[in-house]
Amino acid sequence: MPCAAGVEAYLALEIARITSSKPEDMRVMRGGVMLQASWREAMRINLYSRLTQRVLIQVAHGNYANEDHIYESAQQVAWEMWFTAQDSFKIDITAQHSPLKSLNFAALRVKDAIADRFRDKTGIRPDVDTRYPIVRVHVHLTEHLATLYLDTSGEPLFKRGWREDKGDAPLKETLAAAMLVASGWSMNDPGVPSGCEQGMPVYDPCCGSGTISIEAAQIACRIAPGLLRNFGFQKLKLFDSHVWKQLQDEARAQQCAPMAPVFGSDVSFRMVDFAMRNAERAGVSDAVEFRGGDALQRMAPSERAGLMLVNPPYGERIEAAGIAGARQIAEVDDGGDFFSQLASHWKKNYSGWTAWVLTPDLKLPGRMRLKESRRVPMWNGPIECRLFKIEMVAGSKRKVAAFDATGH
Ligand SMILES: C[S@@+](CC[C@H](N)C(=O)[O-])C[C@H]1O[C@@H](n2cnc3c(N)ncnc32)[C@H](O)[C@@H]1O
Repeated sequence: MPCAAGVEAYLALEIARITSSKPEDMRVMRGGVMLQASWREAMRINLYSRLTQRVLIQVAHGNYANEDHIYESAQQVAWEMWFTAQDSFKIDITAQHSPLKSLNFAALRVKDAIADRFRDKTGIRPDVDTRYPIVRVHVHLTEHLATLYLDTSGEPLFKRGWREDKGDAPLKETLAAAMLVASGWSMNDPGVPSGCEQGMPVYDPCCGSGTISIEAAQIACRIAPGLLRNFGFQKLKLFDSHVWKQLQDEARAQQCAPMAPVFGSDVSFRMVDFAMRNAERAGVSDAVEFRGGDALQRMAPSERAGLMLVNPPYGERIEAAGIAGARQIAEVDDGGDFFSQLASHWKKNYSGWTAWVLTPDLKLPGRMRLKESRRVPMWNGPIECRLFKIEMVAGSKRKVAAFDATGH
């Protein structure tokens, strides 16, 4: 099961909860986790995992030195056990340090191997469909090893089925979920109640299309992330619709009233509108409160202090708007003004809250003149980020007031 780099240990913990495996039964590698599981467990992981990108079944693994070796390895797989010659398929290929000149050519050889095998067994060659394939096969090459996987997910799992309205830079749902886990709000060590289970409020003051808040609200209502979508395994031969329906019914039976309050706000009313519509489709419009407003002005949304989880505007992709933004357009700023004002606002008005800020700016806490108490490395696609934990301790209010009064 692949995941964003930095998320592997959390994924292992999550998979242990979804299946009956223990973390020691798993192989945790950079960018993913491997385990032996049943077909039923593969369906359960697709249904319940918030952190993995896909659930892949390894069907071949061996040494290679050229494309012919990969062809032979692919031809030996009993593909006809998994799908029929009438099903279209697609090959995706990734590589790390592969000596091959052309990955496209290697993918073509795997395609040929699968089609040739079907032709030999059934007299029919299945079609390739690169846009809407019924079956997806993944090939991963390292320097000497070729591994072939059958994809049970279909569309990647960050697509939960509720997003139609996106902002300019939406966070992947899987990464939003990883932020919630890293903060201890959505999952904790066994026996330790999570922040959500303790009813702790969670708030994203730059919520955009609402990804973090909607993930949080679904978690608060125990809504399984895969209930709104279809999966690749539903098209495979082993699929048993009765078992699947039973799993879905079990998941629906777990849904509950929200265990914790969830909030989101954004300076752009268009984004707030997107977020509300997304929440409606995600089945959580009653479990999350969205508002418009500038993060530099909005007061804490609940009396009880909680967590702020935020993926703030950054640099060229998204500029800070609102009162700080107006100034930045004139000054061609790097966001520094916005973040120092945000720090003052938080210190004054968010005493007792803890902020978890995901940013590619590795020096952000210093620029906010705040000290982080944790920094968790996480990759947003190819972009290296940090999730900084910043605690707004009670008492900082007075210090800030004095600080402001002297004008320094
Ligand atoms: C990186 S995006 C967040 C994306 C969001 N996590 C999502 O998944 O859609 C940053 C957001 O900050 C908002 N923003 C910019 N300046 C702001 C301000 N002063 N107050 C509140 N939100 C602001 C932008 O409108 C944008 O939606």
